[in-house]
Amino acid sequence: MSAFWSAWVMFLIVLNLGITLFLFLWGQRVEIPTRADGTSGHVWAHGVLREGVRRLPLWWVLLSASMFVAGFAYLALYPGFGRSRGLLGWTSHDELAAATQRNDAVLGDRMQRYSLYPIEELARDGGATRMGHVLFEDNCAACHGREATGNPLLGAPNLADNDWLYGGDGKAIMTSILDGRHGVMPPWASLGEDNVVSLANYVLSLSGAAHDDARAAQGKALFATCAACHGAEGKGNPALGAPNLTDNIWLYGGDLASVEESIRHGRGGVMPAWRARLGENDARVIAAWIYSLSHGNAGSGAPAAAR
Ligand code: HEC
Ligand code: HEC
Repeated sequence: MSAFWSAWVMFLIVLNLGITLFLFLWGQRVEIPTRADGTSGHVWAHGVLREGVRRLPLWWVLLSASMFVAGFAYLALYPGFGRSRGLLGWTSHDELAAATQRNDAVLGDRMQRYSLYPIEELARDGGATRMGHVLFEDNCAACHGREATGNPLLGAPNLADNDWLYGGDGKAIMTSILDGRHGVMPPWASLGEDNVVSLANYVLSLSGAAHDDARAAQGKALFATCAACHGAEGKGNPALGAPNLTDNIWLYGGDLASVEESIRHGRGGVMPAWRARLGENDARVIAAWIYSLSHGNAGSGAPAAAR
C-alpha cells in the first residue's frame, strides 16, 4: 500500500471512530430538558403520543463501550490501521504457509508410501485414486472434463476409454502428465481440395463410417503420404501421438466436415507439462486415477501397505 493510501485509510478510520466515539460519550452527558410530567414536550399524532425521556439502558452502554474497546484492540493487534502490521505480526501469508506445512506433514507420509508402488498397482488403492480425482478436477478438468471424457473443441482426448495417443501404461501416462505432449498433424491443403475430400472419405471408410466409395478409392492411393505417421493401415503410432484412424474414436470429431478440416488445416493439440506445477507425487495419484478409469473399479484389492 502506498504512503498516500495508507494515510487515507488512517484518516478515514480516525474520522469514523472519532465521530462515533464522540457521539457515544456526548450522548451519556447531554441533558434533555424535561417537563414536570417527565416528557420532553414533543407531541405526535394529534396529541395521542408524547415523547418520554429515559436514560440509556446500562446493558446498551456497556455493550457499545465494549465494542469500542474491541475495535481499538483489533486495530492495535492486527493489520488494519493503514500500513500498520499490528503488534501480533499476523499475516494471511504466514497462516497459509503454516497450514500448508501441517498438511504436507500429514500427506508426506502417505505420498512416500504411494511412491513405492507402480501406477498400475496404485490404481487399485481407493485412497490414492480419490486424491487423484480431486487433483484432476482442480488441474485438468478445464480441458479433459470432470470425468476425463475429453473435449473435441480442444482436441483433449477422452482418458477413460483405454484408447491412447501415446500409450496407456503407467509410465506413458506419467510422461504425458509431467512433460506434456504436442501432437503435430501437418496441413494438407496443398494437395488440393479434391484430394482432401477423397482422403477424408478414405479415412472414414477405415472405421466403417458412411463414405463415398469412389472417393475413398482415390483417397486410398494418396494415403501413402499419411502412412509415415498413421501407419500403412491407419492404426496410428504412439511414438508420434498419431491417432488410430480405424477405431471410430475421434479427437476432433468423426463427421466428414471435421475430418476434412483435420486434413485441410492440420491439427496441433497441446498438452501442457505439469512437472513444475504438480511434482512427481501428485502426478502419480492423478495417473493412478486415470489408469483406474479404463481398468475396472478402483479401491478393490489395494496394496496393503498403501492403505
Ligand atoms: C490446456 C488443456 C489441457 C490441460 C489443462 C490438460 N490437458 Fe491433458 N491433454 C490435452 C491435449 C490437447 C492432449 C492431446 C495432446 C496431443 O494431441 O498430442 C492431452 C493429452 C493428455 C494425455 C495423453 C492421452 C493419450 O491418449 O495418450 C494425458 C494422459 C493427459 N492429457 C492427462 C492430463 C492431466 C492428468 C492433466 C492435469 C494435470 C491434463 N492432462 C491437463 C489438453 C490438456
Ligand atoms: C507428421 C505426422 C503426420 C502425418 C504425415 C499425417 N498425420 Fe494426421 N495426425 C498426426 C497427429 C500427430 C495427429 C493428432 C493431432 C493432435 O494431437 O492434435 C493427427 C490427426 C489426424 C486426424 C484427426 C484424427 C482425430 O481423431 O480427430 C486425421 C483425420 C488425420 N490426422 C488424417 C491424416 C491424413 C489423411 C494424412 C495424410 C494426408 C495425415 N493425417 C498425415 C500426424 C500426422
